[in-house]
Amino acid sequence: MVILRVEYPETNDGKTLSTLARKLTVPLRQSLRKARVLLPKEQKRAPVLHVLLLSGQQGYVGLSYPENNSPLENGIMRLKFPNEAPSRSTLKLEEAFLQFIPKAEWDKRLGGGLNAVDLGSSPGGWTYQLVKRSMMVTAIDNGPMAESLMQTGQVKHLTVDGFKFEPQKKNVYWVVCDMIEQPQRVAERMGDWLINGWCQEAIFNLKLPMKKRYETVTEILAQLEQRLVDADIKFRLQVKHLYHDREEVTVHVQNLVLKF
Ligand SMILES: C[S@@+](CC[C@H](N)C(=O)[O-])C[C@H]1O[C@@H](n2cnc3c(N)ncnc32)[C@H](O)[C@@H]1O
Repeated sequence: MVILRVEYPETNDGKTLSTLARKLTVPLRQSLRKARVLLPKEQKRAPVLHVLLLSGQQGYVGLSYPENNSPLENGIMRLKFPNEAPSRSTLKLEEAFLQFIPKAEWDKRLGGGLNAVDLGSSPGGWTYQLVKRSMMVTAIDNGPMAESLMQTGQVKHLTVDGFKFEPQKKNVYWVVCDMIEQPQRVAERMGDWLINGWCQEAIFNLKLPMKKRYETVTEILAQLEQRLVDADIKFRLQVKHLYHDREEVTVHVQNLVLKF
């Protein structure tokens, strides 16, 4: 027994099928229930029967299992852009938090009073997410930060090189990094932060303008993992091409040995 999802491609053409998908869902669900293919009630842990519409006449039918599929409709994490945020990039960090950090741990790991460093912070979309969670943020970028963020009193803006900045004290919980730079260089710097104990957790983007993106990410992350293993760091590493990511992936690394 399965549950049903009628979906459509996330393209301009695909989106024109959203009404049809909605209208098809109820009658299809009813007839599948009658045929005893569908469960009488929706259950989160059941296999999903996907009908992916390609047009009004054609589609694919497929089956997926809950341990290996997205629980979200069309696999998309829809987030509302907060009007006060200075850039749309803000949604990347919000999605990353939702994706990588279990909600039950938000108070401890994303709660007020934690110190954070935002490398490549201008104009402040990522800093906004940290400030919103009552963190104190050191924002590193030669570019300007939104005045609204500076007025909160939670942000210290330093116009220095994000690859050279070192925290003075070991009281930083989060480092986040959205610098547009070679992914190899960013991953190496994040490795430095984790190995030197300058942060407890890191979220960073690897920008991938090149052709061999998968190979590049695999190689870079294997090198980072090896460095962390060699340094005896107990860690969890997650990576995902988020819905709000463009030519980039988002990586999360947590040092599992708590310093705080
Ligand atoms: C994609 S933007 C960051 C957007 C930001 N996360 C937001 O949400 O508003 C990339 C930023 O990285 C900064 N950047 C690039 N190289 C840098 C470096 N070496 N040190 C500090 N900032 C750097 C750029 O100035 C640029 O503002």
